[in-house]
Amino acid sequence: MRPFCYLLVAAFLLPLAVVSAADFPPVSELPINPELPDPLVMLDGSKVTTKEQWEQKRRPELKALFQHYMYGYLPAATGVKATLTASNNDLFDGKASWKSVTLHYGPDGTPPIELLLVVPRTQKGVPPVFVGINFCGNHTVLADPLVPLTTSWYRGSCPGCEGDVATEKGRGGQVDVWNAEMIIDRGFALATFYYGDVDPDKNTNDFTDGVQPHFFKDGQTEPGKHDWGAVAAWAYGVHRVIDFLDADQSVDTKRLALVGHSRLGKATLFAGALDERIKVVIPHQAGCGGTAPNRFNVGESVERINTSFPHWFNDTFPEFNQQVERLPFDQHCLVTLCAPRAVLFSNAEEDQWADPNGQFNMLKAADPVYRFLGVDGLRPDAKPEMGKLIDSRLGYYIRPGKHSMTTEDWKVFLNFADRHLK
Ligand code: GCU
Repeated sequence: MRPFCYLLVAAFLLPLAVVSAADFPPVSELPINPELPDPLVMLDGSKVTTKEQWEQKRRPELKALFQHYMYGYLPAATGVKATLTASNNDLFDGKASWKSVTLHYGPDGTPPIELLLVVPRTQKGVPPVFVGINFCGNHTVLADPLVPLTTSWYRGSCPGCEGDVATEKGRGGQVDVWNAEMIIDRGFALATFYYGDVDPDKNTNDFTDGVQPHFFKDGQTEPGKHDWGAVAAWAYGVHRVIDFLDADQSVDTKRLALVGHSRLGKATLFAGALDERIKVVIPHQAGCGGTAPNRFNVGESVERINTSFPHWFNDTFPEFNQQVERLPFDQHCLVTLCAPRAVLFSNAEEDQWADPNGQFNMLKAADPVYRFLGVDGLRPDAKPEMGKLIDSRLGYYIRPGKHSMTTEDWKVFLNFADRHLK
């Protein structure tokens, strides 16, 4: 097969924050608020009363606040250049085909993303798509020996994979986590990439080994206090993948769902909040720093997450360790940035570290913004019931069991996506 190359221009530019960092006070000067901040009240205390104010003032302000104090600022979109590296038209007895595409983006030398795109062959029309960030490499998602092994930094071990994940031993090890065949059978395509391609998940905060240093300004040698951490970098990778999918046209990007588990669920919600092309947002068991409240100290705390994983957020977020009440937002505000799009929080009973109850409260607290915008949010009578999907636009699910992403979880994701995309 002859590799080919084509140049894409990012058709979509992220709306840049209209509020600059200079407008925001240092952490010590933020007011103490032990309650959940009202998403419809601006930082200066004024109330949002019209949809125009929401769109033009409060949404940009919230986007900037989350980047400033927590995740770090994302750079503007860059063009994406794609090269086909491998493909196979005969997957799952001919029901699907896949291709592996190297995506170059950012300034010269930025490490590329290897995207695996699996598409159903047996249906008419262009399929809707699930985009997913994976933990262990694309070769663990499909057992096909032609899928390239990852060459990026890799995790030493992975659930389902024996031994050295980055070798043949890892191949197919996450088939039951990603369930590509079931996704195909349900009429969706799957686009997935390995998070280590964008930013290695090492517990250091020097930001020397991921995409970030490639985006340094002239003369910059180390990250600034509001520069992007790993969660933001993984989200930026999602945005560049969608740029490619938009241009490639083998899937219907108007019907696009994004899913990620745990730390990649945090990246999923952040990516969805900043990119309106993501129509269904599914952060699975994302917990602290994603779907669970920062206030109230249930399960993992802000201090704990910043201590264990100093590279996930920016260097300002740890200033809130002892004073989460100063945060000018809580995670329900991230959900409101997704409005009016569909968001599903899914959980496991034994995963109390991710605070499933607190997550439900985040949806309840985001609901008024959906209503304000004139759409339904969380079903008014909704309450968490074990194993029952609440499939309203703001959706919730909790099942028995542990922190994991399973075939049964995927049935729920697919049902939710069917309801909100088809
Ligand atoms: C740890 C961390 C969580 C995270 C999880 C994961 O448990 O404390 O915040 O969600 O790892 O990503 O697997």
